[in-house]
Amino acid sequence: MNIALILAGGSGQRMGNIDMPKQFLILDNKAILLHTLEKFFVFRHEIDKVIVATHPTWFAYTRDLISRNFKKQSSYFEVITGGTTRHSTVRIGLKHIQQSYDPQDDDVVLTHDAVRPFVSYRIIKENIKGTQKWGAVDTVIPAVDTIVYSKDGLKIAEIPKREEYYQGQTPQSFFINELVSVYSQFTDEQLESTTDVAKLYRLLNKSVYLVMGEQNNFKITTPFDLSMARALIERADTIDQSSN
Ligand code: CTP
Repeated sequence: MNIALILAGGSGQRMGNIDMPKQFLILDNKAILLHTLEKFFVFRHEIDKVIVATHPTWFAYTRDLISRNFKKQSSYFEVITGGTTRHSTVRIGLKHIQQSYDPQDDDVVLTHDAVRPFVSYRIIKENIKGTQKWGAVDTVIPAVDTIVYSKDGLKIAEIPKREEYYQGQTPQSFFINELVSVYSQFTDEQLESTTDVAKLYRLLNKSVYLVMGEQNNFKITTPFDLSMARALIERADTIDQSSN
């Protein structure tokens, strides 16, 4: 069994003054969240269920949005309420999966940020394949800028070899039961120092394999990112029209 857990419980503070969490902002006539869900919907022959963990205040809104968009097929998606941090949203999602789907040890969960609407089919496919093979994969892209390490924020401590550094994206995908066991080894206080799930695996000395991501699979975090996303879609539309 493969399950996708879409993390849509955030509020989008860095987007500035908006009247709804950024996953509901409009991109090409459609909420960002719907763009993301459509990518996973294409995999319904391989991904058994898509669980959307949304912000509590926006629970009914999320359910309506999905049923209006996917109509008769909206039962493919299940909406649950997320938590106050990204980790707690993942934890709540995992608990729900354990209680409702009784996963086996080789069952897979793909965790994906709702605000990465440009995730490609290749990335999703490689996450499924990679996790079935290795049990834990993280989507990354090679670092393009020089990485500068400073411990005190004042002076450079080190400039590591750029070729050995990557930027993390999502999906991050894991054997469900193993991920539950990993989380059980950390307290909420310990989780405060990182938002990243793969980091927890490394803290326990467990291997996480790489899936190559894409620059387009960026996270919409700031108004600049939203403009970039809109420009990307406009460009794609222009190319479509000129090829017709
Ligand atoms: N997320 C979540 N539950 C939370 C916080 C974040 O499911 N309590 C999700 C977001 O909805 C998003 C992804 O995790 O899809 C990445 O979150 P990020 O953009 O870093 O956080 P936000 O809280 O959405 O934004 P900000 O940090 O700017 O407030």
